[in-house]
Amino acid sequence: MNFVKALAESPDLNSVPSIYNYSTNSNEPLASDPQESIPTINFSLLNSTDADLRSKEIQELDKACKEWGFFQVINHGVPEALMKMVIEKSYEFFNMTDEEKKDFEEKDVLDPIRYGTSFNFKKDIVLYWRDFLKVIVHPEFNCPNKPLGFSEVLFEYSQRTREVARGLLNGISLSLGLDQSYAEKALEFESGLQIFVVNLYPPCPQPELAIGMPPHSDHGLFTLLINNGVAGLQIKHKGKWVNVNKTLPNSFLVNTADQLEIFSNGKYRSVEHRAVVNNAVTRISVVVANGPALDTVVRPAYKLVDEETSPVAYVPMKYKEYLEMQQGNQIVGKKCLQRIQ
Ligand code: SIN
Ligand code: FE2
Repeated sequence: MNFVKALAESPDLNSVPSIYNYSTNSNEPLASDPQESIPTINFSLLNSTDADLRSKEIQELDKACKEWGFFQVINHGVPEALMKMVIEKSYEFFNMTDEEKKDFEEKDVLDPIRYGTSFNFKKDIVLYWRDFLKVIVHPEFNCPNKPLGFSEVLFEYSQRTREVARGLLNGISLSLGLDQSYAEKALEFESGLQIFVVNLYPPCPQPELAIGMPPHSDHGLFTLLINNGVAGLQIKHKGKWVNVNKTLPNSFLVNTADQLEIFSNGKYRSVEHRAVVNNAVTRISVVVANGPALDTVVRPAYKLVDEETSPVAYVPMKYKEYLEMQQGNQIVGKKCLQRIQ
């Protein structure tokens, strides 16, 4: 496999090899600065004993999911030092020698540990300016056995972010008008799939030609993101690409994903996003993707279906099959979800 990090580090690289030449669709509206700012959810209020405060925050969550599919979460309880440490250890992983990383190179989309490049190296026609490490951390915990200390940090991070994900899922269940634990039960969150992903975007000599991650939506329920402070994430909002530059310190960025769109029968749509690259510094994003259990057949919640006003809009499908369909092909916008609509 030809990793981008090695390519970017090769001396005298002053142009992008043609295989990385991603021709952006010229009809796409250009990124603009957000007119309104990205919504903020105060996690601690989702469980407040003050009923008014709580229901107000649930309404905010509903609005954020409907209008943006993207929001930042503050007061989530995950220590800042742990968030910094997980980025640091992830970076150390990529900085190991090729020999040390070789064991983890991906073979199959459901391998518990996958070190790879682009999106689907075998299927991609254009390659993306991105190397990645994907690790399944729940229902079974996995982790590369190096660098030193990675496993301890990742275990702690997985557990802490899982509690944030559970709290958000309960809040979403309420904001959809369902019982608090309805979503957790229906989606079998207890044995749900949790994937930890690190994206590494090395400096690129021609950032206007290549792309780190093309437009896509995520396959799971929702995703928790942090990064090393370098800009590059863009989300699609009201048909335009919006730069996500400034975020509140010590916050998680959350984006809604395909299984939530299905479960909510289209009430909460998964948000399209992409990652652009720059020519100066390495960008790292650390992603926790939260999904149902692999064997769960995901379907719209019956309470959100009405034969006349809101008929079933998605074909029920096992999450595992959906995941394999998305990960086993090229990634193009929301094409995967459209296949079951
Ligand atoms: C992704 O969609 O996984 C990439 C997000 C990012 O790099 O910020
Ligand atoms: Fe994504």
